[in-house]
Amino acid sequence: MTASLDRMTFCIHTFGCQMNKHDSERIAGMLEGLGAVMVDAIEDADIVVFMTCCVREAADVRLYGQVASLKNVPLREGTPLAKRIVAVGGCIGQRDGDKLTRELPHLDVVFGTHNLGSLPGLLMAAVGEGGHHVEVLDSSDAFPTALPTSREHSWAAWLPITVGCDNFCSYCIVPYVRGREKSRALEDIVDEARGYVEAGVREITLLGQNVNSYGRDRYGEPRFVDVLDAVDATGIERLRFATSHPKDLTDEVIERFGTLRSLMPALHLPAQSGSDRILAAMNRRYTREHYLGLIAKLREACPGIALSTDLIVGFPGETEEDFLQTLSLVEEVGYSQVFTFIYSKREGTPAASMPDDTPREVIQERFDRLVEAVQRCAHDANQAELGQVVDVLVEGTSKRDSSMLAGKSPKNQTVHAPLPEGQTAEELVGTVVPVLVDEARTWYLAGRVLGADGRP
Ligand code: SAH
Ligand code: SF4
Ligand code: F3S
Repeated sequence: MTASLDRMTFCIHTFGCQMNKHDSERIAGMLEGLGAVMVDAIEDADIVVFMTCCVREAADVRLYGQVASLKNVPLREGTPLAKRIVAVGGCIGQRDGDKLTRELPHLDVVFGTHNLGSLPGLLMAAVGEGGHHVEVLDSSDAFPTALPTSREHSWAAWLPITVGCDNFCSYCIVPYVRGREKSRALEDIVDEARGYVEAGVREITLLGQNVNSYGRDRYGEPRFVDVLDAVDATGIERLRFATSHPKDLTDEVIERFGTLRSLMPALHLPAQSGSDRILAAMNRRYTREHYLGLIAKLREACPGIALSTDLIVGFPGETEEDFLQTLSLVEEVGYSQVFTFIYSKREGTPAASMPDDTPREVIQERFDRLVEAVQRCAHDANQAELGQVVDVLVEGTSKRDSSMLAGKSPKNQTVHAPLPEGQTAEELVGTVVPVLVDEARTWYLAGRVLGADGRP
């Protein structure tokens, strides 16, 4: 293809989940392939792409404000364009389509979740002809991963194995903006994983809204466990996956935490609530007992596995009794990390029409109590690492202190350690170093890198 975005700069602002982050890497890959150069700041960018999220209301409202305020940002010196080109994609693009260009007249391009590959054409049309260019499709047959990619980190890669979601949890907008679940062919997944291993990638994270139901749209074969086995066999050093729906997590997958060389001892298993009544209203299709049964099996297969979850507070009709069930679930499981959300009403979802009369202050107070419990659990879970040596995949330096290495343990904990004498952060980024942990806080571990002689 000719380099038709030559001499232009672009930046991508990404919100929401790993799917969006991964889609942004694909976009960067496509635009760089057309000769454009990625920059960090909007001020320096001729083209600004917003990859949006509408899972909760706050992000949704902010997006409209952010795009509107771009009008006041002057063009960079030396730009080949007479006007900055602004594009909105991702889940708000998919949901709102040309409503966006009606409300935001200086917006040039809107695209959705099913047509990432159309973006270069839409941008070029906007550059060449001016005017609005909106394209949103109801679904797509092409798996987006056929597109080029420009990864954020050379040592880690996200690898989508499914797109879309068929679960329709009653609060959630994702199935409406990402479409039906589609699984990618196993050969394609393995090819891509092999390519990453050859390129020196050390960690692969398999992605899907519910990776456990992989293959269901392909007559049930192969299954997710087959994907795990096949990607492990490529020789990748560290393997992770997200996200898992508890109703579909199988015993075979649980066993792999004890047997598969590359599978890291950490699992994100969203519970959403600890109350059976609320779980039923959420259409989650499992009970607290089933969930706790999974946790017991995971701990048996992989003692010490780090468990994380998502919890929603203030779902319509949630009583104090229901909330206490969620609180006690946190204590019972002893999570290493919990993402806590206040329920946000999303138009078009079943929960949006459920009676919802819990006062705001009550919900906020429950949320604060939950956060307090979550922090206590995370702190306690990290204590198990004191005095242990953990293998840390170095990601860079600490944001606050450039003489401190920062990286991730197998359990996905953030680990800090002083840069060993005579070595630079650049040399160590993307390598795995052993760290003796001597401090365990709520949000991170700290220690010292061991030398070749096994001493700090
Ligand atoms: N497919 C993934 C991610 C879904 S979105 C999964 O099932 O886990 C990420 C999290 O956002 C969800 O797990 C849920 O906890 C939260 N969430 C989704 N919709 C929400 C809403 N309407 N209000 C508050 N939190 C919500
Ligand atoms: Fe939303 Fe449920 Fe699908 Fe996750 S599994 S994306 S929470 S509908
Ligand atoms: Fe948000 Fe879309 Fe992901 S709504 S959470 S970016 S699938």
